[in-house]
Amino acid sequence: TIDVRTLYKALGYFTFDPGFMATASCESAITFIDGDKGILRYRGYPIEQLAENSNYIEVCYLLLYGELPTQSECDKFAASITHHTMLHEAMRRFVGAFRHDAHPMAIMVGVVGALAAFYGDASNVHDPAVRELAAHRLIAKMPTIAAWSYKHSIGEPFVYPDNNLGFAANFLHMMFSVPSEKYVPDPRIVKALDLILILHADHEQNASTSTVRLTGSSEASPFAAISAGIGSLWGPSHGGANEAVIRMLEDIVHSGNPVQHYVDRAKDKDDRYRLMGFGHRVYKNYDPRARIISKACYEVLETLGEGNEYQQLLDTAMELERIALKDDYFKARNLYPNVDFYSGIILRAIGIPLNMFTVIFAMARVVGWLSHWMEMMGDPNARISRPRQLYTGYDEREYVGLDKRS
Ligand code: ACO
Repeated sequence: TIDVRTLYKALGYFTFDPGFMATASCESAITFIDGDKGILRYRGYPIEQLAENSNYIEVCYLLLYGELPTQSECDKFAASITHHTMLHEAMRRFVGAFRHDAHPMAIMVGVVGALAAFYGDASNVHDPAVRELAAHRLIAKMPTIAAWSYKHSIGEPFVYPDNNLGFAANFLHMMFSVPSEKYVPDPRIVKALDLILILHADHEQNASTSTVRLTGSSEASPFAAISAGIGSLWGPSHGGANEAVIRMLEDIVHSGNPVQHYVDRAKDKDDRYRLMGFGHRVYKNYDPRARIISKACYEVLETLGEGNEYQQLLDTAMELERIALKDDYFKARNLYPNVDFYSGIILRAIGIPLNMFTVIFAMARVVGWLSHWMEMMGDPNARISRPRQLYTGYDEREYVGLDKRS
């Protein structure tokens, strides 16, 4: 066999593949996706089985270390994550110094990047123990950063982590407790949030994970690499989609227009409108996470009881899905609901404000980013990522002095 890279290099060729539609950027043993069959596995375990039986902390261990933990490994890992949940007091002041109306994703990009200033020891990225400590710190601190960015935006005092609580419950505590009253969530709500974290934990070489790998490939601090990943996730074509789905559903509900009107708009090529939460670069079948999450959506709305305000959003989403899946436009392009189509309804029902949706996605995905970063940094053959380009600009031309330019 011939190594394509060696051959292309020898011939002076490279591939032109805008959007990386047909380019594998690396080898990875973490997550398997078969987009045509709608299969997703973390380290070989089907997402359906992990969603049914596991929890986020266990999934974090699995992604980072490659195996499901034994009880004692799980306890040790959970203890380490719990141990690192606090932020330095100077970071608390840093979060508090942002404009009150700053988007929490903007705060998260800044604060996570700034952690590099506190943990300069993490710059020794070739030491596996240093990488592991940075990973634990990041997984542990993301919920604190996320919740504090929210508290800042509503002008409430920051709530410190409660290390007696599990990962998801602790996040809800930091989000919704106030000095006069501790928030005690329904265990079914905690479970639903934990499920959302599991389903978003990794998804191989998506835009944000590729960003983390690309940034990390220069041997940058892991905090800088993860901060770059958060920036990439923010966009509405990626992690911002769950926020956009709710805006779309609320718009449909409030407009009084029939759902068909929005499906028709999405098909109109002169209109840039798209059905948010539909379509995926890899899944050309039903996103397996969407199936799991739509079921959880019913269960969460059931806990809220009859006549809750989110039922209308779910009914609208289901009608939209029904109409779109029968439509030739969507069928021909294999456009199915993705994970974000239903996750936003759950988050909304839990009481999470819209601008925190992508932050929660980042909180879940940080373990995926870190697993990829650790896999890459542990690969002795890894090298800096440096795509090429097809130059389409001018040939060489003479400089023209300012006084001679018309
Ligand atoms: N609504 C209407 N038409 C769509 C949609 C949509 N949601 N998604 C894709 N299409 C159409 C495109 O217009 C294109 O049509 P054409 O062949 O006639 O030109 C065709 O389907 C292929 O679409 P691409 O944009 O080429 O597919 P790509 O793989 O580049 O994009 C993406 C995937 C970005 C997810 C796209 O489907 C989209 O914008 N969806 C809505 C946003 C969304 O839900 N993003 C979340 C992704 S999942 C995640 O990040 C967790």
